[in-house]
Amino acid sequence: MKSLALLLGLLILHQTHCFEFLVEGEWETEMLSEEEHGRLKRAVLTSEEQYDFQAEGDGIMIKSYKVESRITSRFCHTTFKSSVVNTGPNAQSIGFNVQIPKHAFITNFTMNVNGITFVGSVREKNAARALYAQARARGMAAGIVRANSQNMETFKMEVNVPSGSKTDFELHYQEMMYRKLGFYEHTLHLQPGRLVPQFQVDVYIYEPSGIASVEIPNTQLKHFTDMAKLTLTSHKAHVVYKPSLEQQRMCENCTATAVNGIFTVKYDVLREGNGEELHVSDGHFVQFFAPANLSPLSKNIVFVIDVSGSMWGVKMKQTVSAMQAILDDLTMDDYFSIIDFNHNVRCWSEELVPGSKIQVAEAKKYIQEIKPNGGTNINEALLRAAQMLLKASKQGMINHRSVSMIILVSDGDPTVGEIKLSTIQKNVKKSMREDFSLFSVGIGFDVDYDFLERIAMENRGMAQRIYSNKDASEQLRMFYSQISSPLLRRITVQFPESTVSNVTHSYFDKFFSGSELVVAGKILPSESNTLSSLITATADPLDIKIEAVADITELDAQLIQQQHSFTGFSRPMWAYLYINQLMSERSQATTATKKRMITKKILDLALEHQFVTPFTALLVESQGTNERVLADAPKDPKHGCCGGSGSIVRQVENTPLFPESPPPWAPTTTPAPSEAIGGPSITRVDNDPHFNVHLPKSNMDICFNIDSKPGNILNLVSDPGAGVVVNGQLVGSKRLGKEKVNTYFGTISVFSQPDDISVSVSTDSIHLTHGNNNHSFSWRATADITQNRVKVSIVKESQVTVTVGDKISVMMLLHRVWKKHPTHVDFLGLYVPNTNQYTSQAHGLIGQFGQEPEVRVYNLHDGADPLKKEATMEVKGSKLAVTRGWQKDYRQDKKRGSDVFCWFIHNSGKGFIDGHYTNYIVPRLDSFLQHQF
Ligand SMILES: *[C@@H]1O[C@H](CO)[C@@H](O)[C@H](O)[C@H]1NC(C)=O
Ligand SMILES: *[C@@H]1O[C@H](CO)[C@@H](O)[C@H](O)[C@H]1NC(C)=O
Ligand SMILES: *[C@@H]1O[C@H](CO)[C@@H](O)[C@H](O)[C@H]1NC(C)=O
Ligand SMILES: *[C@@H]1O[C@H](CO)[C@@H](O)[C@H](O)[C@H]1NC(C)=O
Repeated sequence: MKSLALLLGLLILHQTHCFEFLVEGEWETEMLSEEEHGRLKRAVLTSEEQYDFQAEGDGIMIKSYKVESRITSRFCHTTFKSSVVNTGPNAQSIGFNVQIPKHAFITNFTMNVNGITFVGSVREKNAARALYAQARARGMAAGIVRANSQNMETFKMEVNVPSGSKTDFELHYQEMMYRKLGFYEHTLHLQPGRLVPQFQVDVYIYEPSGIASVEIPNTQLKHFTDMAKLTLTSHKAHVVYKPSLEQQRMCENCTATAVNGIFTVKYDVLREGNGEELHVSDGHFVQFFAPANLSPLSKNIVFVIDVSGSMWGVKMKQTVSAMQAILDDLTMDDYFSIIDFNHNVRCWSEELVPGSKIQVAEAKKYIQEIKPNGGTNINEALLRAAQMLLKASKQGMINHRSVSMIILVSDGDPTVGEIKLSTIQKNVKKSMREDFSLFSVGIGFDVDYDFLERIAMENRGMAQRIYSNKDASEQLRMFYSQISSPLLRRITVQFPESTVSNVTHSYFDKFFSGSELVVAGKILPSESNTLSSLITATADPLDIKIEAVADITELDAQLIQQQHSFTGFSRPMWAYLYINQLMSERSQATTATKKRMITKKILDLALEHQFVTPFTALLVESQGTNERVLADAPKDPKHGCCGGSGSIVRQVENTPLFPESPPPWAPTTTPAPSEAIGGPSITRVDNDPHFNVHLPKSNMDICFNIDSKPGNILNLVSDPGAGVVVNGQLVGSKRLGKEKVNTYFGTISVFSQPDDISVSVSTDSIHLTHGNNNHSFSWRATADITQNRVKVSIVKESQVTVTVGDKISVMMLLHRVWKKHPTHVDFLGLYVPNTNQYTSQAHGLIGQFGQEPEVRVYNLHDGADPLKKEATMEVKGSKLAVTRGWQKDYRQDKKRGSDVFCWFIHNSGKGFIDGHYTNYIVPRLDSFLQHQF
């Protein structure tokens, strides 16, 4: 009797524990008919292509090895396919090993062994095991090995196959690309184990907002990264890596393969607005938020470093080396201290000190001299750190615009003092208040990483496991880099009522530069074909509100056109995020009932979306023969497959999914100007600059042009009494032949001296500068920014209103022209309401009319142009010849504008304005008017 043995095992390796579970089964080949056997053999012998290729001595030949990843909107579906033939004379074991990222979910595995197809389906774990056991009871069995390594887990399949037979394997998994330090990094472990005639890797990226950059960094696959080909268009990237047999050889004539390592594709997306992106597809939405161009908040950090005996040697050296770099990163605006602990707790400084060069140098010296020994008193060390932050806070040392955090570096379980983990967890939570964050780093395998992760997540932080290999120091530095630039705090993503449901965590305590916040959910049926969201964030005293809008059908229509996109990505992506969130809720759940409820939810979702999670397993079965293979994951979710270390969702706190009161939803797309068009109380400067001053008492509009040079800065309002100045800088139109260059306002700036805030609006972007902080915002998103008494309201691609203390407000209107227009350039119009409350010291081209002059117009008569009447105007003691004309108000209709009739003053407003227009030229955008009139 020919027999075919299927080797199987379940191997779970974590930390120091190691379980091994091996089951062997047998499987009768009689089940294959003679005919089938014959067909199989022929299939092998007459394989499509004849390669000048010998199988290795062991008679196993991998005919093909193909990997394909489809990434759409950061969600990725990867398929590993391999086709292997036993060309040897005897039955033997064939292996299929794939290392997959720890945070990925396996979604399917199928194989065809000797003509029999096994198809995978995800089942509840116990049900799968029971079914599998039934199969085994009938003498048919199979298995899978899953093991832990750095950030990867290994999926292993071994099948014993008879001579001449072929086996096809196909593994599918899905994962989310998390942004770290400004990039998404997609990694594929390529380990075919031997030379492969048909070897190919394809990575397809489709990003709806566009791709900013793609890199294929040189990794372990040194020989080959040059061979990877990149095709890049605005929204799509395709990377192909297809080494020939010769190129795979370790050396000429070698039979060993050099393809063994990590293949990496790094990319980032384009963010045109302020980092908000809302994608809607297949009934689900994903909101991304990754602002840049904001000044980082300063930090108050207590480093808490484990210096127990187990840290002795390399681990301590690596920690010291990483700390040198980390301390160097501190600035004068940061405050810090160091606590080192074994069974005792020592403080380098009892109080937080500024990150000055001198303090940093002393801290570095202190760390270098530490000699690890003794036990581990984590509880005491963390409580001391929290007390230090609390004391600093009580003494008013902690700046509003700062983030207070503890960074714990440990390599072992507590052994001294309080050692009960749940008690430590409670103590820490109590001492941290609502304001401090705990970040924890576990070095090596002796540490209860799950515990470190739990206390970090419970206290608004993140955890990272670091492997004590040669680059541990680099890993620690990288982790620090990820959290060293907090940009925003208390970020909330809100949606109008009844538009969405089942939303993942939408409140985040912090946003770190280079990362990304992600919120996903289902959209509810509605009449509207758009979905909008409002993102609010604080970086006290800076408040930001940003609106995002997405068309509900547009993305799906685009995806259908894209051959290699991951159509329908948003449904599994939502489930992926939701399951990960439930997993962390489960690990923090305090009662068994709660845990059970959450487990049930995870299970339902995992079954619906066919994800292998800690509560599900993949049953791979053959319909015809009732043979089964069980692909199982580690039993305990805490140590297992779904850690997603460093994932952004982990910054999330336990806040209710839906705010109790409806969000302060105020659509800001169509802010009505306070007055009707051309209405009585607005003074404006638009076009090349045409000034139009409205005089409410005389109910008259007076207009004049200023003919100055590009680059000149004109003072519009200068109110030393209020400390407010509004200046505008001229840009010239493109010169065409000998034509005169027209000038327009290219930049308008509002400076509030008492707030030390300047808002500079140009046709490219909007900058808000406060002391050393420089934040920049885009015209491409509707947003509200409030800092101190200054409020900036941006209406997407249309206008910006800057208000200072509710007294002075100016509106800048954006005029965009066709990019290739031969002469015109983008420019700004300025609209200043007459309701502005200036002090009596106000002056400037517009500010001087805060106090309305007496104006008398008489001697109305026909002019040279019969359509334009002429008259005499008496103002400020002069008699001026004026012409009846009109100017445009563009607030409602930016293309055509609406006409406003006015009396036009010739010669750059001479006689109407005080002095000469050149008296209003100032040196800088924040200069007050110097000229005395
Ligand atoms: C798994 O793959 C097989 C073969 O391609 C397919 O028939 C089956 O529907 C897949 N299962 C899932 C859940 O996608
Ligand atoms: C490789 O094999 C060819 C033919 O057998 C031989 O001519 C050549 O010298 C070999 N090269 C090396 C580096 O051994
Ligand atoms: C989604 O929300 C609906 C309504 O709130 C609820 O009934 C359902 O259980 C939720 N689904 C999941 C997977 O949480
Ligand atoms: C603020 O930063 C932008 C670039 O992000 C720069 O163009 C601008 O000049 C800066 N403003 C100040 C006042 O530093």
